[in-house]
Amino acid sequence: AESGLLAGKHVLVTAGPTHEPIDPVRVIANRSSGKQGFAIAEAAAQAGARVTLVSGPVALPTPGGVVRIDVETAQQMADAVAEALPADVAILVAAVADWRVEAAAEKLKKSSGPPMLHFSPNPDILATLAARPDRPSLLIGFAAETQDVVANGQAKLSSKKADWIVANDVSGDVMGGSRNRVHLVTTDGVEDWPEAAKEDVARHLISRIAQELS
Ligand code: C5P
Repeated sequence: AESGLLAGKHVLVTAGPTHEPIDPVRVIANRSSGKQGFAIAEAAAQAGARVTLVSGPVALPTPGGVVRIDVETAQQMADAVAEALPADVAILVAAVADWRVEAAAEKLKKSSGPPMLHFSPNPDILATLAARPDRPSLLIGFAAETQDVVANGQAKLSSKKADWIVANDVSGDVMGGSRNRVHLVTTDGVEDWPEAAKEDVARHLISRIAQELS
């Protein structure tokens, strides 16, 4: 993306997994390296936006010019997103855990046998954001799918009331890898983008966002 395309805009990005503790030493997590979300935050900053990146636990350096807020759980991510508002654009790339468990205060002992975990639902950050009066004017979700990628993206677009869904074909080695193949699903239709480096997917997305806002 050219520099200055998003000057004056606040772009909020979530990235990485969330970790839901079971006890002080164990967690339930999603598989997510954070690479695609971090690349998007970097491309937005290079386009001149003010960027807030709310990140779950990942092993990645903070892109230049990006304000990073580290969180662990889905609830913490939801709180950090709400606190970062208002934003012109929100791009929710994080692989958020759908459930949390009631964490034990002390380490569960193997000698006590397999534990029973009690799950409860986590807030859906994307759907919550879509329903807020201060909803970002462009709200973008990601959908990682292994089959019926576009159909699942379209279903998510309407159920979560997002403006765009970037439907991500993760049937190959996308998870943790450096390349990605996505379909941009909007109410106007579907754009099939060629497989590309995650940095290039990020720059292309930022260009499309700038075009949409102009
Ligand atoms: O997990 P799911 O496929 O429903 O994720 C679709 C989109 O919703 C992603 O953009 C993801 O970041 C977002 N999401 C969220 N909060 C959740 C679950 C998903 O913001 N609790």
